Amino acid sequence: MTKPLEGIRIIDFTHVQAGPACTQLLAWFGADVIKVERPGSGDVTRNQLRDIPDADALYFTMLNSNKKSLTLDTKKPEGKEVLEKLIRESDVLVENFGPGALDRMGFSWERLNELNPKMIVASVKGFSDGHHYDDLKVYENVAQCAGGAASTTGFWDGPPTISAAALGDSNTGMHLAIGILTALLGRDKTGKGQKVAVSMQDSVLNLCRVKLRDQQRLERVGYLEEYPQYPHGEFSDVVPRGGNAGGGGQPGWVLKCKGWETDPNAYIYFTIQGHAWEPICKALGKPEWIDDPAYKTAEARQPHIFDIFKTIEGWLADKTKFEAVDILRKFDIPCAPVLTMKELANDPSLRASGTIVEVPHKKRGSYLTVGSPIKFSDLKPEITASPLLGEHTEEVLASLGYSKQDIFNLREVKAV
Ligand code: COA
Repeated sequence: MTKPLEGIRIIDFTHVQAGPACTQLLAWFGADVIKVERPGSGDVTRNQLRDIPDADALYFTMLNSNKKSLTLDTKKPEGKEVLEKLIRESDVLVENFGPGALDRMGFSWERLNELNPKMIVASVKGFSDGHHYDDLKVYENVAQCAGGAASTTGFWDGPPTISAAALGDSNTGMHLAIGILTALLGRDKTGKGQKVAVSMQDSVLNLCRVKLRDQQRLERVGYLEEYPQYPHGEFSDVVPRGGNAGGGGQPGWVLKCKGWETDPNAYIYFTIQGHAWEPICKALGKPEWIDDPAYKTAEARQPHIFDIFKTIEGWLADKTKFEAVDILRKFDIPCAPVLTMKELANDPSLRASGTIVEVPHKKRGSYLTVGSPIKFSDLKPEITASPLLGEHTEEVLASLGYSKQDIFNLREVKAV
């Protein structure tokens, strides 16, 4: 099967998570992704949080599958020369260095555009160009704070809270991938490359769009009726942390199930969807609530929504999270068990769909990773192991026309 991005060559000048997540996605879909790494050390995540001595860490293997690795010291003149050749023959360069690093290396946007006017240059930075913080280096949690996620996550009586989901890193990488594909389609029309830039702050804020909605509603009416602070608590002039409240028009909460006293994940998420009120009452064995004016409408329920959740927890007390969902699904009630990483890793449906994949690796043995969350009717992305450091150096250099002697010479000066 021909993969849609076959024939697109990408210089992957990325490290850690935000950039690698982007280029990994493009590699799954067929792009020839060449990861350029510093000789001797490579991407810092190869060594971070190792669980097997002398083998690449899972942090690296899970973000760099389906790529090639070329070691190249791009600060040495010989290394710069190789990079220039690669640039002339590539479609995209992706980087997520700290601000100004690429310019300092001698590869400003102007220079890259001069070397290959058809090439797309894609960058991740913490803040967008011209932002008053655009000189800052940024990691995941910094971005979650700067993009509005932390101030709106957690409980009202606790501090701003970080999400475990990589809203700053992988999310930004996904935005960048969309930008690159758009620029590639644009190039088909214009014949020209362009610069694509995504900031981590902007990408987090894009996912916090509903909180900006709430800020404007709060300023207009002074309260937010779907937050636990309504109607008994106080609102200030900023969107508060809402705990586990549903973010849209459907109230919901994380509710205890059988075994919660000893199992920290014996919970379900329960949503009270307005038009599902009747089936909810039936499922809970509370038919008298259906027409009771104190329960009938969403407005009537809101002032005592936590009493309603307490009653539901009473119903859940003798049911495991899985048993509860199996009953509630028959009533068409939106809900799910709170799943642990262990449960997800062993979930047969996720294995069957290719979302959890076991990948053989030359040094580690096999490891689990998350495969493509995007499913196609005509493409089944096959996940292959991340490359060893410099595994494809000779292959890539040979494809650029370097002879065995040239490669030997480059090794002698430690440029590769
Ligand atoms: N050969 C020679 N030098 C290389 C090289 C290579 N193959 N690859 C990288 N380098 C150099 C760079 O030129 C740079 O040198 P300089 O600072 O002397 O100009 C240096 O290595 C790396 O710089 P930097 O990217 O700033 O690394 P860092 O470890 O200090 O910072 C981050 C890491 C992630 C904080 C920073 O890269 C950053 O803010 N990136 C943008 C935002 C981002 O993507 N963050 C999320 C990461 S998940």
